[in-house]
Amino acid sequence: MTTRRSKAWYGKLDKDGFIHRSWMKNQGFPDHAFDGRPIIGICNTWSELTPCNSGLRDLAKGVKRGVWEAGGFPVEFPVMSLGETQMKPTAMLFRNLLAMDVEESIRAYGIDGVVLLGGCDKTTPGQLMGAASVDLPSIVVSSGPMLNGKYRGQDIGSGTDVWKFSEAVRAGEMTLQDFMSAESGMSRSAGVCMTMGTASTMASIVEAMGLSLPTNAALPAVDARRMALAHLTGKRIVEMVEEDLRLSKVLTKPAFENAIIANAAVGGSTNAVVHLLALAGRADVDLTLSDFEIGSDIPLLVNCMPSGKYLMEDFCYAGGVPAVLAELKDHLRPANTILSGDISHYADGAECFNRDVIHALDAPVKPAAGLRVLRGNLAPNGAIIKPSAATDALLEHEGEAYVFENIEDMKANIDRDDLPVTADTILVLKGCGPKGYPGMPEVGNMPIPKKLVQQGVRDMIRISDARMSGTAYGTVILHVSPEAQAGGPLALVKTGDRIRVSASNGTLDLLVDEAELSSRRATWQPDPPHYTRGYAKMYVDHVLQADQGADLDFLVGKDTRPVTRESH
Ligand code: FES
Ligand code: MG
Repeated sequence: MTTRRSKAWYGKLDKDGFIHRSWMKNQGFPDHAFDGRPIIGICNTWSELTPCNSGLRDLAKGVKRGVWEAGGFPVEFPVMSLGETQMKPTAMLFRNLLAMDVEESIRAYGIDGVVLLGGCDKTTPGQLMGAASVDLPSIVVSSGPMLNGKYRGQDIGSGTDVWKFSEAVRAGEMTLQDFMSAESGMSRSAGVCMTMGTASTMASIVEAMGLSLPTNAALPAVDARRMALAHLTGKRIVEMVEEDLRLSKVLTKPAFENAIIANAAVGGSTNAVVHLLALAGRADVDLTLSDFEIGSDIPLLVNCMPSGKYLMEDFCYAGGVPAVLAELKDHLRPANTILSGDISHYADGAECFNRDVIHALDAPVKPAAGLRVLRGNLAPNGAIIKPSAATDALLEHEGEAYVFENIEDMKANIDRDDLPVTADTILVLKGCGPKGYPGMPEVGNMPIPKKLVQQGVRDMIRISDARMSGTAYGTVILHVSPEAQAGGPLALVKTGDRIRVSASNGTLDLLVDEAELSSRRATWQPDPPHYTRGYAKMYVDHVLQADQGADLDFLVGKDTRPVTRESH
């Protein structure tokens, strides 16, 4: 057995050991808590400002029961929490700050293993990125989804139905009063968005990578079985410390490939791309945007919003991720898990109880569902599209661009009656990338211009350097890289230029000749920075582009050296 890390804090028979132990004892821990047993950190993103993670203090109690039962010593600690729906300008600006908080907290404290309690969109990747850079035995327990939304007897989905209702109000098909009264029915229990948005996507991916116990992704937040799962996780992390099963033994290239395959099958969020790329960077795994093409031919199996019609509660009762992995068994790569066995075992005993929710591989919801990577002179380093949430007829399209120079320009003009656009126009939005906004917000699914909504248009091609919410849908081309603010060709597009999109060929081309583009480039200037101090300045100075996961350049990789110096 390797020497436990915690011994260098709590096993010392000197002044330093006295200090570390004595102050902990002020919480009522007895001597035997410091007898050399594994010390398990419970890294908690609970916050009342992150409503999706509001159940995590209860789940931490379940983890603690399991840790004590297995002979460990659990210690819960808070880290920055990121409330997707509450933070401005965007929670994504702070994902890397959470990752720094998690990394340094784990490293600085005398813990041997860590349970990551997260859920809301950015909390899961932020925690995993930080944990990967320290590389202790680590395991995830997610918040779990909210109960299905209900409004006037119908199921309604987080996010997805907000976009739908908002367009219906703009089209004059829904009253503002009805719109407001749907709010309470949409979010009626603890938990994350109950569509296959980014939170449930990341939880599904985490499960398919073997980073959590099976069934973690879909069990509703308020289902008693989630508390039992937290308890079992507490037991398992103690064993993982004894087995020295570090995160790097699970975060392997095949596990990332399984994440990409699972993301396609569940109809997961485009946001998974930036998060997986950033996590791979921390884990020293060579993953590039091109690797996402292995998902292109994977069929859509899970019929959940926004790609389908059901919600996460239905997905849970139909069998959840284990039932999806059972369907994918011939596609999955052999990969180690936190259970110290192959990922294929996550499907052991899995059954599907509703074939309209989880389709069989030979009768999928859609035949080829994975995200498509697009490249061309408009996106030399790539852009992405989610065909399962798009309009088939628009996946091959050539049209004239209408350009918004920034988010304010878009908001001020999108509903103008004289906006010179038709359903064939391609809307282009600049200045919403990692450096530009800054923080790469979820504004890529910009609204359809009001005059077109009133004509019945519900989708058109939209291109930007932004992301979109995992709950959103439409023929939306995202993550154009390099972004406009970094001098990418997106910065040079003008209203009236022609653009050609081909999802089948994986191309995105600006049909303007090179001489004209160079003359535009000669006069182009980036916008002045929005922030001149603080974290946001550091972020803008160091953030990598979307095709590299938008991590900060100096956070890539890991540092697993022991911390030897004491404070006293
Ligand atoms: Fe938190 Fe959707 S807003 S999970
Ligand atoms: Mg989101």
